Amino acid sequence: MDNQNNIIEMNHIVKKFSDNVVLNNVSFHLRKGEVHSLMGANGAGKSTLIKILNGLYNYDEGEILYNGKQAEINKVEDAEKLGIAFVHQELNICPDLSVAENIFVGNLRKNKWGVFDKAQTIKEAQDLIDMVQVDMKATDIVRNLRAAEKQIIEILKALTMDAGILVLDEPTSSLNEKEKEIFIGIVNRLKAQGVSIIFISHFIEDVLLLSDRITVLKDGVNNGVFEAGQITKDELITAMMGKKAEVRKRNSEKLAKDTPVVMELKNLSSEYKFENIDLKIQKGSIIGVCGLLGAGKTEIARAIMGIDKFDSGEILLDGEKIHKVTPEIMMKKQVAIVTEDRKTEGFVPMMSIRENSSLSIMKNFANKLGILDFDKQKNYADELSRKMTVKMSSVEQEVGSLSGGNQQKVIIGRCVASNPKVFLLDEPTRGVDVLAKSEIYKILLEMAAKGVAVLIFSSELEELLEVCDEIVILKKGKIVGRVSTEELDKNTLMAKIS
Ligand SMILES: Nc1ncnc2c1ncn2[C@@H]1O[C@H](COP(=O)(O)OP(=O)(O)OP(=O)(O)O)[C@@H](O)[C@H]1O
Ligand SMILES: [Mg+2]
Repeated sequence: MDNQNNIIEMNHIVKKFSDNVVLNNVSFHLRKGEVHSLMGANGAGKSTLIKILNGLYNYDEGEILYNGKQAEINKVEDAEKLGIAFVHQELNICPDLSVAENIFVGNLRKNKWGVFDKAQTIKEAQDLIDMVQVDMKATDIVRNLRAAEKQIIEILKALTMDAGILVLDEPTSSLNEKEKEIFIGIVNRLKAQGVSIIFISHFIEDVLLLSDRITVLKDGVNNGVFEAGQITKDELITAMMGKKAEVRKRNSEKLAKDTPVVMELKNLSSEYKFENIDLKIQKGSIIGVCGLLGAGKTEIARAIMGIDKFDSGEILLDGEKIHKVTPEIMMKKQVAIVTEDRKTEGFVPMMSIRENSSLSIMKNFANKLGILDFDKQKNYADELSRKMTVKMSSVEQEVGSLSGGNQQKVIIGRCVASNPKVFLLDEPTRGVDVLAKSEIYKILLEMAAKGVAVLIFSSELEELLEVCDEIVILKKGKIVGRVSTEELDKNTLMAKIS
């Protein structure tokens, strides 16, 4: 029978968070040796389903079978014993440990006396890193690494478990095209070794390329299981969203040459990060900044905002030099940023959507006596969440318990509402589903039409080609080109950055 091929069967799973039914009678079957993707809009229940398989969440109804037998997965160790390894959507990394220690955490190499063998741990870690051809040292301290590098560490960490089942929740959201190819190579190799893989991703092309089958979750129900070879991109989107996503390209009515420059970077340099960055950004323009991992995108974004210091050079706003570049001053001057690391810099997870939405603009919600006007704040958060299509139980839900993509929408919404003149976004649509992505683009286009200068730092080339007027190409910390998107397609751009 067909079922004998199933290594995992999750049957009729029901999961509630208080009254909120997040999974409603969901069945999901994983066959031995297949790559089975889980797709669905932000908040559909994908992460919740695999957290149940991981023993991180309990479930209210249903059963889990492993090789046809009832499995009791009540805690993480139970899943480990069954040989199931996880890469979770939210990175789970110790910033003060080295790359090697993070990769082998819980699994540190020991010598024949059973003592931690540092040299061996470092060597094996470096072998893994070299295998995936990433520019990273096993001895690097993780704190200083970028999101993409941390994501690669998570994947390598899972590989050391020699698991029979590997569950990957958006493992490639921070990876650029080249790193993604490496990742696809890893998955194919594991598959050839007989590992069964659950893959969660919003990148439809990747899913179609890698999967044998695809299960679509929609609002907490199983909305269909498809053979990857027999479904098109549009059909998948319809299964996930109930409607087609709009395809839109910015019709760049070229900005007039004499449109005023709102921000200028002059010779901006920071040792080992970037060098002689010269950039004029006109009012109402949308500029993309792209480059491979390590090209300096995030570093430049952070320097402009004053989050990190730079060594030399100048930043001018409306022709006026900013003498001291700090986040407070830049914020006052109406520069806003969405950083790539939402977990540590974007929001306060324990606070509600209502509180987070007005975090940096609290004074707008105080009455004459300086007392918080709760209703005003709530209405504002309601409006913002509606505009950004945040899936939530109410604005009182803690942001930390929102699905990953919905957290990102709250952060972007808050920045939009702060009414910036210059809007910097570092990897803004990471983990965001296709429909929400087009909502975010729409908002950026509207802002640009009102004169806001938008600067998008992104490794998603398609995203840049879709919304930007021009793309700045970075290589090893230097600008090597600035091209109008009309003259570009993805492959040309790819060739230029690598
Ligand atoms: N700990 C929690 N407490 C309350 N609600 C939760 C919790 N975890 C998840 N939820 C809710 O469950 C729903 C499903 O969330 P889940 O994280 O599974 O979505 P997802 O499909 O992984 O979305 P994304 O693509 O954005 O990652 C969401 O509405 C979310 O708000
Ligand atoms: Mg998720």
